[in-house]
Amino acid sequence: MKVLLTGAAGFIGYHAALRFLRRGDEVLGLDSLNDYYAVRLKQDRLDLLRSEKGFRFRQIDIARRDLAEAIGADALDADLIVHFAAQAGVRYSVKNPFAYVEANVAGQVAILELAARLPKRPAVVYASSSSVYGASDTVPFVETARVDCPVSVYAATKRAGELLAHAYGDLYGIRSTGLRLFTVYGPYSRPDMAPWIFTEAILNGRPISVFNDGEMQRDFTHVDDIVDGIAAAADRMLSKPDETAPIYNLGNNSPVMLLDFIAAIEKAAGRKAIMEMRPKPSGDVLRTFADISLAERDLAFRPKIVLEQGIADFVAWFKSYTGASSHGIV
Ligand SMILES: NC(=O)c1ccc[n+]([C@@H]2O[C@H](COP(=O)([O-])OP(=O)(O)OC[C@H]3O[C@@H](n4cnc5c(N)ncnc54)[C@H](O)[C@@H]3O)[C@@H](O)[C@H]2O)c1
Repeated sequence: MKVLLTGAAGFIGYHAALRFLRRGDEVLGLDSLNDYYAVRLKQDRLDLLRSEKGFRFRQIDIARRDLAEAIGADALDADLIVHFAAQAGVRYSVKNPFAYVEANVAGQVAILELAARLPKRPAVVYASSSSVYGASDTVPFVETARVDCPVSVYAATKRAGELLAHAYGDLYGIRSTGLRLFTVYGPYSRPDMAPWIFTEAILNGRPISVFNDGEMQRDFTHVDDIVDGIAAAADRMLSKPDETAPIYNLGNNSPVMLLDFIAAIEKAAGRKAIMEMRPKPSGDVLRTFADISLAERDLAFRPKIVLEQGIADFVAWFKSYTGASSHGIV
C-alpha cells in the first residue's frame, strides 16, 4: 500500500510511519518542520525514518490551497492518506489561536481537497482529539455523545476537522475516519507535554508545576497502542470500502490521577519531585476517560501497555536520548 502521511516528523506521525514501513508499505511523509518545538527532535525522527526502506519525505506546509500542485506527481498513486500534521497543544492555543485555524482547519480542508483530486480518491484517516469532549462530566466519553461545547480553541479546531471530513464525505464521497486520541506518551514524544516536562525536571532536581492540586485525570495511552489503532483503522478503510467509517476513541480506558502519574515518573527516575501547586490553566479539562468499545469491536483495539511499564520505558529512553544529545533540546 502507498501511504501519504502528514506530520511524519511529529511524535505520532513518526511512530505511525515506522509501523507502515516495517510491515512493507511505502510512505511519502510530509511535514513543514515548524519550530513549535525543537526542530532537531523532528530531524532526528526523520533520520530514523530515512534509514527504513520505502520512505520518502517532502518538507511542505500542507495548509495551502495549491497542495495538489505543490506535491505534484509524488502523491498520484496514494492509496491512503494518514493525516497527523496539526498545531497541537491546548495551552498554546490560548496564546496563538490563529496557528490552530491555519494548521487544523485550513490544513484539514487542504487534505480533503487533495483526496478529492487524486486519481484513486484515497480514503483519509485523520487525528482528532479527546479534547472535543470539552468539560463533560459524563464518563467514560463515548463517540455518540454531543460534542458541541469545546473549552479551548484547539478543541474547537479539532471538532471543526471532524465536521469538515463529514462534509467532504457527503459532497464528494471522500471516505474518512477520525481518531480521537487520548493523551499519548512514549519515546520521541513532544517536549511540551507533561511526561517530558516532568521527567526532565525531576531528573534535574527542578520543581514541577502541579495544576489543580493534582486533582486532574488523564487517560494516558502509550504510542505503540495508538499505532495499533491507526494501522487497524487504515486497514479497515481499505478492506471494507462499502462500510461506513466512523470516528473512534483511541484511549487507554483507564484514567490516572496526576499525582499517581508523577509517582510513576519518580519511581522510574529514582528521585522525588519538587511540586509547586498551581491553579488549573484555562482551557484544560479536569479529566479524560475513553470508552473504547467501538474501536474494540471494529478494530480489535485493546491497549496492552500499563502506565508503570510505559513510563519506565519512557524515562529510560529520555535519559539515553538527552544524554546522548548535544542539541540543546533539554
Ligand atoms: N500527542 C497527543 O497526546 C495527542 C492527543 C490528541 C490528539 N493528537 C493529535 O495527533 C496529531 C499528532 O500530534 P503529535 O503529538 O504527534 O504532534 P506533533 O506536533 O509532534 O506533530 C505534528 C507535526 O505536524 C507538523 N505540522 C504542523 N503544521 C503543519 C503544516 N501546516 N504543514 C505540514 N506539517 C505541519 C509539525 O511540524 C509536527 O511535526 C495532531 O493532529 C494532534 O492534534 C495528539
